[in-house]
Amino acid sequence: MTDAKTTTNSGAPVASDQHSQSVGPDGAIALTDHYLVEKLAQFNRERVPERVVHAKGGGAFGTLQVTHDVSQYTHAALFQPEVETELLIRFSTVAGEQGSPDTWRDPRGFAIKFYTSEGNYDLVGNNTPVFFIRDGIKFPDFIRSQKRLPGSHLRDNDMQWDFWTLQPESAHQVTWLMGDRGLPKSWRHMDGFGSHTYQWINAAGERFWVKYHFRTKQGNEFLPQAEADRLAGSDADLHIRDLYDSIENGDFPQWDLSVQVMPYDEAAGYRFNPFDLTKVWPKSDYPLIPVGTVTLNRNPENYFAEIEQAAFAPSNFVPGIAASPDKMLQARIFSYADAHRYRVGTNHAQLPVNAPKNEAHSYSKDGASRFGFEHPSVPVYAPNSFGGPHADPAAHGDDRGWQNDGELVRSAATLHAEDDDFGQARTLVNEVLDDAARERLVGNIAGHVGKTTIPDIRERALQYWDSVDAELGRRVREAVSPIENPRETLVPAPVPTPAGPAQG
Ligand code: HEM
Repeated sequence: MTDAKTTTNSGAPVASDQHSQSVGPDGAIALTDHYLVEKLAQFNRERVPERVVHAKGGGAFGTLQVTHDVSQYTHAALFQPEVETELLIRFSTVAGEQGSPDTWRDPRGFAIKFYTSEGNYDLVGNNTPVFFIRDGIKFPDFIRSQKRLPGSHLRDNDMQWDFWTLQPESAHQVTWLMGDRGLPKSWRHMDGFGSHTYQWINAAGERFWVKYHFRTKQGNEFLPQAEADRLAGSDADLHIRDLYDSIENGDFPQWDLSVQVMPYDEAAGYRFNPFDLTKVWPKSDYPLIPVGTVTLNRNPENYFAEIEQAAFAPSNFVPGIAASPDKMLQARIFSYADAHRYRVGTNHAQLPVNAPKNEAHSYSKDGASRFGFEHPSVPVYAPNSFGGPHADPAAHGDDRGWQNDGELVRSAATLHAEDDDFGQARTLVNEVLDDAARERLVGNIAGHVGKTTIPDIRERALQYWDSVDAELGRRVREAVSPIENPRETLVPAPVPTPAGPAQG
C-alpha cells in the first residue's frame, strides 16, 4: 500500500478519485472539474494504432553472449569475442489483430533489438527462414489477402488461396506454414531466423553474405491442429503467458545463434539467387558457424511502454553489418521506420525501450513529444564551425554497398540455373519431413484448402500442391472434403460507389 497521494498529470493534489464535481449531489457536472476532463480525455487516447501486421505479440529482455570468434567476418561490436549485449525480443503472429488467439496457424515474428555499444541493431525476422514473396511491392496485397474481407469483415480461405496460387513463389513458405512449424507449442519452442541475406564487413573491409539462425535450446515442439483450435477458444493468450511465466519462474529460454557465411564473390555464380527470400541456403553448401547464445531473463515491467511501443526497424544497422541486394529487405528498410513515425510518433526513438544505450547525437530536431535535447551551445546544423557532432568517415556502417551496374528496370528475370518456385518446397516435403510430419502436412493442407468455396480457386490450390510434389498433391486431393455450397463466380456484380449511384 503506497502512501502516495493522487495528483493531476501536472502534479497538483486531487480531492477525490470517486466523485466528479457537480452542482449539488444530483446536479450537472462542472466543466471546471479539470481532473475529470483530463482523466476522460487521456483515456480516450490510451491506444496507439495496432501494428498493421504482427499486432498480437509479447516479449522479454535478455542478452546475447558471444561464445565463438567470428571477427574474421564482421567487425560489428556485438559479435566480437566474449562480448555480451543486452537485447529485447518481441514474438508475434502475423495476420491476427491484437486480441486474436496465439494458436492460429501463422508464421511467428521473431524481432530482436540489440542494444550494442555502437547503436541499436534490429534483426526483424520470423520463425521461418523464407517468406511468401520476393518483391516488397506485393506485400500490402499479400497481407490483405490474409486479413479480412471488406464487406463481412471475415477471414476468407478463398482469398488466401487465390493469392498464394497466383503467386507460386509462395510455395516454399506455405509448405512451412502448413507443416508443424506453422503451429509452435510456444514461442520458447521455435527457432528464429534473420531470413534475409545480410552483409557482414570485417575490420579489413572484406565483405561476406550472411544468414542468421537462432536454434531453440528448448527443442522445436508443435501443436496438433485440433489442439490449437481448442486452445484458441480456451486460452487465447497461451504464448504470452508461457513466456511470462517461464521467466518469472527463473526458467530462462535460450537460443543458439549461428550464421551461414557466403564469400562475397560466390553470390553471382551460385546455383540460385542467394538474395531470394523464398530460398534457404543448403547447409551442405554453407554450414552453420556458431556465434553465441541468446537468453531471455527479464519480463517487461509495463507491456504498453516496453512491448507495444517497441519499434523494430530493419533499417537499424550498425558498423560491420549492412543490407544486401534482396528486394524485400530494401522495401522493409523504408517501411518500418515510416510505420513507427505513424504508429508511435516522430520521436519514437527517444522512448526508453527504443533509445540506444550509447549516446546519440543526431541532427534530427524537435517534432511532437520530443523531450531529449542537447546543450544550447551544440549547433543544430552541419557542417558547422562550433564543434558540433561530425560524421565519421571511418564508421562505414550501413552504407557499405555492392557492385551494381544494371539499368533501372521492373523485372523478375531469373539469372541463376535454379531460380524456380517449387524446388525447395519439394525438398522440404521429401527430404526434411519424416513420414509422420508429412502425414500431418497432408491433413493440415486438406483442412485449410477444404474451407475454400470457389471451385476455380480450389482446383488451383490442388494444382499448386501437385506442382510442389505429385504424390503430396494426390494425397491432398484424396483427403480434402468436397465443397458443400460452391460459390460459382470469381467476379462479383459491380456495386455503386459510396459517393452515389454508378455513373454511365
Ligand atoms: C512488422 C512491413 C516483410 C517480420 C511489420 C510492420 C510493418 C511491416 C509496417 C509493423 C511495424 C510496426 O508498426 O512496428 C513489412 C513489409 C514487408 C515485410 C513492407 C515486405 C517488404 C517481413 C518479413 C519478415 C517480417 C520478410 C520476416 C522475415 C516482421 C515482424 C514484425 C513486422 C517480426 C513485428 C515486429 C515487432 O514485433 O514489432 N512489418 N514487412 N516482415 N514484420 Fe514485416
